[in-house]
Amino acid sequence: MKTLTVMSRKGGAGKTTVSVNLTLAARAAGLRAVLADADPLRSATEVLRGRDEPPGLLFETSASKLFTLTEACRRSGVDLLVIDTPAAPEADVAEAVKMADLCVAVARPTYLDLAATVQSVAVIQRLGREGLIVLNQCPPSRGGLEPPCVLKAFEALRFANLPVAPTALRSRMIYQTAFAQGRSVLEAEGGDAAAKEVRALFAQAWRRLNGKAAPAVPTANDDLAGLAARRSEIAARA
Ligand SMILES: Nc1ncnc2c1ncn2[C@@H]1O[C@H](COP(=O)(O)OP(=O)(O)OP(=O)(O)O)[C@@H](O)[C@H]1O
Ligand SMILES: [Mg+2]
Repeated sequence: MKTLTVMSRKGGAGKTTVSVNLTLAARAAGLRAVLADADPLRSATEVLRGRDEPPGLLFETSASKLFTLTEACRRSGVDLLVIDTPAAPEADVAEAVKMADLCVAVARPTYLDLAATVQSVAVIQRLGREGLIVLNQCPPSRGGLEPPCVLKAFEALRFANLPVAPTALRSRMIYQTAFAQGRSVLEAEGGDAAAKEVRALFAQAWRRLNGKAAPAVPTANDDLAGLAARRSEIAARA
């Protein structure tokens, strides 16, 4: 089992968005993926509560229970555990970082988010974990040209001493409307562009975790039947 902790010290950067979408991408790929909601605000739980899903997708937890949950997931054959964390307190986030094979630090391409990321990087490195920085809520590129704020963010992050995912998630309404339906962008109608970037990010995170290519992730639009079959397969193994 691999554990992926999603973090950012700034509220609203996109931790829950990245956590939920990566977990559901992994499940769509046929993996046994579990999301641990370690944020007392329970945003991930709010998104996922209404889903018609076999049990075992989501666990509400807290920093002090993470070790026990991680071990239970390991014993029950989970492939990927994703931990959604709160922005603070740092001591609680550190517990989730300690569990992680990979920490994904989410940042918007803004001065304050990037400054906060430097601190996340320090925590990841102090605890000797692997990390990956992901830019989220980026303005769209136009005609293949990146907006200046995104270019500046990539440039600034060259000095962060942690790899940066080449795929930046764009600011798209579909990330919000999909959540209102309890879905990932992979499952949402009209989410093709967002689905493409989530698949790319999943592939990059998986390669960092496992050193090999990720299993293919179908979307609702190209493989509804495949998604349903995978869900039943996961349910049968649970
Ligand atoms: N790429 C995106 N495009 C459009 N909206 C987004 C995107 N990413 C996140 N959002 C929206 O921004 C808001 C904050 O996102 P999210 O809840 O994922 O952040 P968070 O870091 O988990 O916040 P918190 O610190 O409160 O836990 C949500 O309304 C979410 O739908
Ligand atoms: Mg959140």
